[in-house]
Amino acid sequence: MQERLTLLEREALARIDAARDEKELDLVRVGILGKKGQLTEVLKGLGHLPDEQRRTVGQLANELKNKLQSRLDERRELLRSESLDRSLAGTVDLTLPGHPLPQGSIHPINRVFEEICEFFHGMGFEVVEGPELETDHYNFEALNMPDYHPARDSQDSFYVDDRSSAGGDRPAEWLLRTHTSNVQVRVMEKRQPPLRVIAPGRVYRRDNDPTHSPMFQQIEGFLVDRVVTFGNLKWILTEFVRHMFGEARRVRFRPSFFPFTEPSAEVDMSCPFCDQKGECRVCRGGWMEILGSGMIHPNVFKSAGYDPEQCSGFAFGMGVDRITMLKYRISNIRWLFENDARFLRQC
Ligand code: DAH
Repeated sequence: MQERLTLLEREALARIDAARDEKELDLVRVGILGKKGQLTEVLKGLGHLPDEQRRTVGQLANELKNKLQSRLDERRELLRSESLDRSLAGTVDLTLPGHPLPQGSIHPINRVFEEICEFFHGMGFEVVEGPELETDHYNFEALNMPDYHPARDSQDSFYVDDRSSAGGDRPAEWLLRTHTSNVQVRVMEKRQPPLRVIAPGRVYRRDNDPTHSPMFQQIEGFLVDRVVTFGNLKWILTEFVRHMFGEARRVRFRPSFFPFTEPSAEVDMSCPFCDQKGECRVCRGGWMEILGSGMIHPNVFKSAGYDPEQCSGFAFGMGVDRITMLKYRISNIRWLFENDARFLRQC
């Protein structure tokens, strides 16, 4: 009986190894372990054996059954993966690199916002955000922009109340802020100097052409203390321009007018594209205007309840879109808002 088992084992193993696919292997399995399989027959016949023999042969037969079963499983795994390889061969080249997934990036405006805020943060400024829906008072009146100032004209501002339907000359109360300078008096009203604040955010004006968009982004900055000089303003803005556009930039302060500062200055930098030769299409005569600034007007301090004799300060405001366009040489402001992936991918 034992010899029969040994023979069966040798034969079965050979047949398992010889099976060329899963179908053949299944036939082999049925032939050995199926209802009428060779080994099943042996197990069935155990009952006729004398007790002692039955035990040893039974044990051997069971061991063989387990062994063959695991050999069948191994062989099946092997055949399966071989057949998968065969079916993929020729149709799929597994060595090819995969398709890259589209990857997002930080929008150029946000990147410039971050860079500007980081610079001023390093200078001890804190970031404060003001409301985009604003009253006449904080957007104009408190900033020394009286009722007759041209910037208050409904041509320039988006009023939320319609002036005409408000009846007569009654001024509309609410508008979308036209600049981030609205944050100045809001902060000063609540707090006492010393203050160092930058206020980034969206602003709105009735403008729409290749260099103007009805919504754009600004950063306002102001510093108030007991004694602040124009020299302090010049130093910080010169450092700022060089940080953003390179150490080689020259900075020029040109006298200007803003109702909320006195004296006021516009800040120009030497053109980074033609290196101040004035030969390029971007700049005018080698200089480019990048921001407005000045010493805070005493009337602004008064609006906030400060005594202008007891404090002084400077303020500045810049268009983030403009700085982004200069930094990345973007000629049309609309590209910044259209979200065309072909454009954004280049940034
Ligand atoms: N608010 C001005 C604007 O919208 C920018 C500005 C100019 C802000 C001079 C200032 C400043 O604080 O001093 O165009």
